[in-house]
Amino acid sequence: MRIRAAVEALPDYSAGRTPALIAAQGGPAHSVKLSGNESPYPPLPGVIEALTRETELNRYPTPYADDLRAALGERLGVDPGAIAPAGGSLQLCRSVVEATCDPGDEVIAPVPAFSAYRMAAEIAGARFIGVPVLGQSSPAGPGLDVDAMTAAVGPRTRVVFLCSPHNPTSTALAADDVARLMSAVSGETLVVLDEAYAEFDTNPDTVRGMDLVDSHPNLVVLRTFSKAYGLAGARIGYAVADPDIGAALRRVTSPFSVSRSAEAAALASLHPRVQPEFRRRLTEVVDERTRLTEELRRRGFDVADSAANFLWIASDRAVQWAHGLERRGVITRPYPGLGLRVTVGCESDNDAFLRAFADVAGN
Ligand SMILES: Cc1ncc(COP(=O)(O)O)c(C=O)c1O
Repeated sequence: MRIRAAVEALPDYSAGRTPALIAAQGGPAHSVKLSGNESPYPPLPGVIEALTRETELNRYPTPYADDLRAALGERLGVDPGAIAPAGGSLQLCRSVVEATCDPGDEVIAPVPAFSAYRMAAEIAGARFIGVPVLGQSSPAGPGLDVDAMTAAVGPRTRVVFLCSPHNPTSTALAADDVARLMSAVSGETLVVLDEAYAEFDTNPDTVRGMDLVDSHPNLVVLRTFSKAYGLAGARIGYAVADPDIGAALRRVTSPFSVSRSAEAAALASLHPRVQPEFRRRLTEVVDERTRLTEELRRRGFDVADSAANFLWIASDRAVQWAHGLERRGVITRPYPGLGLRVTVGCESDNDAFLRAFADVAGN
């Protein structure tokens, strides 16, 4: 048996510890999970009913979720050919690199960031160039260093990953920053704008990938139903790009990667009848985000201006805090030496976090 060296060297994907695992290992019997940037709400009304109606599971779905692409095309005002769906946008990070990189080509991404960017590059045998994110003390606040990323682009760069709002720093990219980067890279380099958390962003100055796709044939926008739509367990996301790139992404993504159930859940979530409830939930998350940010700042912590459904608390004590929180039944995500990422949950979960954090970090 021979496994490719690039694959042998990959770390296992780590999704963090679950409440069940912590209980099984003698920790608190009940924990609040604020480590995965998931939605605290159940699926939108009508989703479970749509799943129950989707009974033809003995039949394959269409290879590339045709009904969903039609619905999204109409909603976004793009040709369905411009859309490439997959079982999660994580998969599409892989597809983008597979479609563009030969071994030795370069992929640039911020670090820290969503781990799929690096994983995609390494699986493809591409060279990963990580550009550190700006620190809390930078005048622009913590977030992507777009100028350093632009400077890292070379003749073998095939993909640049941007993320807005950025995981884990929670801040969004200004439209001007993205325009600057787009004008500095050649049309041979794909710029991927990962907007997994865009629905939570209320800032009018933030880049909106959908406004740029028409005029930038080398831009790919990634969206997901995992976060704002609360369908992380169903696994469904999509890319929007120039139709030629959309076709290439579909070709390298496994056909049937979107199940009938996932497609039905996504379509039900887009139904006009449930949009008021969808917006109400977004507002609730944004209000809770403001409440948590203000309270933590009042206690003296360095909290970034979040545009997402999670907070970033810069600190070199993040690992210590996360262990203390876990012992008190609150699971968060530490980035060693940099900061703590905390998902905005429902009001009672957020209160549990605030109480435990006072114990662990003081103030
Ligand atoms: C920035 C970013 N992109 C994409 C994803 C994954 O989305 P999906 O569930 O659609 O694979 C995540 C999940 O945490 C994320 O943080």
